[in-house]
Amino acid sequence: MTDDNTPVDRVIDGANELLTDRRSFMAGAAKLGVGGALLSQFASGSATAQEGDEMSEVSDLDILNYALTLEHLEYSFYEEGLSNFEELRDFERAGTPGGEIFDDPSLQYGTYNYLESVRDHEEAHVHTLTETIEKLGGDPVGAAEYQFPYETPEEFVALALTLENVGVSAYAGAGPLIQNEAVVEAALSIHSVEARHAAFLGTLNERLFPHGAFDPARSMDEVVAIASQFIVSE
Ligand SMILES: [Fe+2]
Ligand SMILES: [Fe+2]
Repeated sequence: MTDDNTPVDRVIDGANELLTDRRSFMAGAAKLGVGGALLSQFASGSATAQEGDEMSEVSDLDILNYALTLEHLEYSFYEEGLSNFEELRDFERAGTPGGEIFDDPSLQYGTYNYLESVRDHEEAHVHTLTETIEKLGGDPVGAAEYQFPYETPEEFVALALTLENVGVSAYAGAGPLIQNEAVVEAALSIHSVEARHAAFLGTLNERLFPHGAFDPARSMDEVVAIASQFIVSE
């Protein structure tokens, strides 16, 4: 890790606190007051309030809406970014981090298309989570308005890596709390795709290899703190 990492990078590189129970999961979300739609659903009965303001239970629906909140963010990020950089060659010409790795023309000219695939995956995640929540009788959160701090393709792919790593750690943190086995299966199938997105973006950012043998899981408050930097309104 170098000194020129962004504040977001430092949050991601530094946090490695494993989620221990449902209480800490919920307390973090309530404390931050972010994710209004999500929290209002918690308050409306799917979660049980106990002593003080703390909630001790988070349902599978809560976790699904938490995941959906992140998937909306990811999808909007790619949808907006790819429309900002419409020229396929913007990425290849921009000296994108890791560009020399893409000297192989088949890779070099595929970057934009791969990013389109990532965007399509995010859209599929949004649809699947929305449908799952509806099937379980829940009320799926909608997309928010976002503001992503990038101007160039290089900054875009750097932020993409950050967001993918956040997604991977969020699923790792929430997964152990899921009760319904079918929901666990769905979450795992998304989790590994997010990890593959992170690997692809890692290649573009010259971070070819994982930092260690174990990836961190992040609690909801850690993830919401990062994601909220990009949410303008809900
Ligand atoms: Fe996703
Ligand atoms: Fe992703």
